[in-house]
Amino acid sequence: MESTSIYPLLVLRTPRLVLRAFATDDAAKIYPLANDHELAQNLASLPHPYLPEMAMEWLETLPALHEAGTRHVWAITLDYTTLVGAIGLHDIDREHSNTELGYWIGKGFWGHGYATEAASAVVRYALDDMTLERVYAKHFARNPQSGRVLEKIGMQREGVMRRHFRKWGEFQDCVLYGILRD
Ligand SMILES: CC(C)(COP(=O)(O)OP(=O)(O)OC[C@H]1O[C@@H](n2cnc3c(N)ncnc32)[C@H](O)[C@@H]1OP(=O)(O)O)[C@@H](O)C(=O)NCCC(=O)NCCS
Repeated sequence: MESTSIYPLLVLRTPRLVLRAFATDDAAKIYPLANDHELAQNLASLPHPYLPEMAMEWLETLPALHEAGTRHVWAITLDYTTLVGAIGLHDIDREHSNTELGYWIGKGFWGHGYATEAASAVVRYALDDMTLERVYAKHFARNPQSGRVLEKIGMQREGVMRRHFRKWGEFQDCVLYGILRD
């Protein structure tokens, strides 16, 4: 039986993936994927170590952000139930018609093209369905995998934001990518 979503969100289907809203019972599936040093070190805000209750605390923040229209987050699943990661449109700004794309895939699922497939569907949704003008994404310069994902979905490298983010006490250069509606 499919569990109940905690916020309304269009389901996006790709050849291999179902992107859907998170449900309460996903918390137990998030924890083993998110509690990973290698994953956390390349993400701006994933805590490490990741405690089991952090998954539910994070899920509980999402309905208000959806309600406000500032963030859309999809669970990346193989078959609706098997969680492989998460992808979101953050800081949705209707006035300036842009949003930031962010994503992670659990380490056991890396290298299968899942991030590329999910990111492509979400960017298409942002540009075609939400009719936003621009989608951008940033990755730490030390994380070229993410740059490959962004290139493969047609984003352009716009430059390097030097020492833009302090991760675990160390400044990180961030590579900025973007794609426009036309
Ligand atoms: C980055 C991440 C999302 C990629 O997920 P994924 O599903 O494995 O990605 P894909 O399989 O779609 O594509 C990965 C690409 O990176 C390439 N790659 C792997 N290691 C690489 C490296 N060291 N340098 C450059 N490219 C690399 C792969 O070969 C592949 O490209 P290809 O298809 O041209 O061969 C995943 O590793 C992750 O969640 N990392 C931690 C969190 C993170 O970085 N999130 C993004 C923050 S902006």
